[in-house]
Amino acid sequence: MRWFSRARLAVAWTAAFVVRSCAYDLDVNSVDSIIGGATLAADGMMHYYSGHLPGNIPGILPPPYYWWEVGAMFGGLIDFWWYTGNDTWNDIVIQGLLHQIGDDGLVMPKNQTTTEGNDDQAFWAIATMMAAERGFPNPPKNKPQWLAVTQAVFNLQATRWDMDNCNGGLRWQIFTWNNGYTYKNTVSNGCFFQLATRLARYTGNSTYEDWANKIWDWSVESGLISDDYRFYDGLDIPSNCSVNHNQWSYNAGLYLAGSAFMYNITTGAEQEKWKKRLDGILWMAGVFFHPTQPDVMYEAICEPYPRGCNTDQKSFKAYFSRWLALTTQVAPYTSEIIMPKLRISAKAALETCVGGTDGVTCGLKWYKGDWGAWDGNYGVGEQMAVMEVTQSLLIETKNEAPPFTEVKGGNSTGDPTAGGAGDNPQLNAIVDLSVPTAGQKAGAAIATLTVISMTGYMFYYMVT
Ligand SMILES: *[C@@H]1O[C@H](CO)[C@@H](O)[C@H](O)[C@H]1NC(C)=O
Ligand SMILES: *[C@@H]1O[C@H](CO)[C@@H](O)[C@H](O)[C@H]1NC(C)=O
Ligand SMILES: *[C@@H]1O[C@H](CO)[C@@H](O)[C@H](O)[C@H]1NC(C)=O
Ligand SMILES: *[C@@H]1O[C@H](CO)[C@@H](O)[C@H](O)[C@H]1NC(C)=O
Ligand SMILES: *[C@@H]1O[C@H](CO)[C@@H](O)[C@H](O)[C@H]1NC(C)=O
Ligand SMILES: *[C@@H]1O[C@H](CO)[C@@H](O)[C@H](O)[C@H]1NC(C)=O
Repeated sequence: MRWFSRARLAVAWTAAFVVRSCAYDLDVNSVDSIIGGATLAADGMMHYYSGHLPGNIPGILPPPYYWWEVGAMFGGLIDFWWYTGNDTWNDIVIQGLLHQIGDDGLVMPKNQTTTEGNDDQAFWAIATMMAAERGFPNPPKNKPQWLAVTQAVFNLQATRWDMDNCNGGLRWQIFTWNNGYTYKNTVSNGCFFQLATRLARYTGNSTYEDWANKIWDWSVESGLISDDYRFYDGLDIPSNCSVNHNQWSYNAGLYLAGSAFMYNITTGAEQEKWKKRLDGILWMAGVFFHPTQPDVMYEAICEPYPRGCNTDQKSFKAYFSRWLALTTQVAPYTSEIIMPKLRISAKAALETCVGGTDGVTCGLKWYKGDWGAWDGNYGVGEQMAVMEVTQSLLIETKNEAPPFTEVKGGNSTGDPTAGGAGDNPQLNAIVDLSVPTAGQKAGAAIATLTVISMTGYMFYYMVT
């Protein structure tokens, strides 16, 4: 972790002395200024990553960062390249994605069987979907292709749709021995929903559209989405499918952008239906902007409280920003509501990047408080959120570049049947799905004790 790195300390102190007093002054009307701000945050983020160096594993961040967050970060870096034109990280992103996707293209690496949930797997698939939509360089021909990987994850998750409990939905966990197997969380279902909508637009295959409707309808019927478009955390199968009411920004973001894609590809009454939802989500998403510092984005359920946000939660504003910007591309009428919020948030976000020993480390809280400019938090999530909210401002320069589709711009090779056979029997045989050994149980218990908060499962604050 660079903040404690001894080797860098001497240099960093000098740098801190020089730069600490002047924060990055973002000019939201200047492309160069926006690129400079996003690059500052990206550089800080990538100090934590060393998966490309000899002896390290591509696509893995050191603790405390879980596997899923690297997939999320690679998505952010695909956008970094697309927005800024800077391809510095592309080879590292491609290497890391391919290593974790695996030669079977299923994104089910054996090393992750004690932690991999449907949401985790989907964050990697969202990155490959972005790669296909943005025309990110394709992998070598003998490797799984971006679109086919996205379809594989989608098809695998479709085989996991569980009608036996709570009338449908995806469970959080894939493996029976992981804590959270009896929980159906909104982020897993929201990722699945968004993948369905984006695959529907990209491929034009109506099967994905049918799934998008089915996932939305179940999310409402099960109480995960309220009548006024609040997105709750998830539901617990053993307690009669009762809902945990915590609200996280990325859940709203997932369904927001997904609804915008559906709005874009439908017509007539169907389009009206999705527009109503889109408008409702956008309105309620106001809860993720500070009540007294208008239009400054915050993670309402953890940032203001002494307990704070955990490692995962610190990154959620990155995806919320990403999906707000994406929404303006496929539903342009939302732009005048969304862009002012992104601009004010990005400016506030960059003002926090005066911390750490290097003097340019970004903080977590973008709203002002008695902690000064930098609130003392630092890490991959903090850097990623500042990078994404800042680069998102460039969406307005991309009017001529909507997400590619199979017939317009896109050339990633697909495979509509990939993963459709369900979970890999080989993997299941190796780590016998039904009867975990004592060792597996212990390993899983330790892993889940620490990962359980990915969705705020054990969290008590409520956003009301
Ligand atoms: C491209 O990005 C890298 C890494 O973030 C940065 O160091 C470099 O200055 C950037 N190049 C330009 C031309 O902005
Ligand atoms: C799994 O772990 C082994 C041993 O550390 C490593 O060599 C391999 O690259 C890892 N695979 C993935 C996909 O991370
Ligand atoms: C695929 O599309 C990308 C982005 O437009 C382009 O750079 C690349 O050359 C294309 N590849 C092929 C094989 O057509
Ligand atoms: C379980 O939930 C259903 C639907 O909300 C409700 O009708 C039923 O009374 C609940 N049962 C118990 C035991 O709480
Ligand atoms: C659908 O998306 C395209 C591409 O961004 C956009 O030009 C078009 O206006 C959108 N359709 C609607 C109905 O907003
Ligand atoms: C459409 O998608 C479904 C689900 O993945 C797949 O089974 C089917 O083959 C696809 N149809 C076409 C024409 O590609």
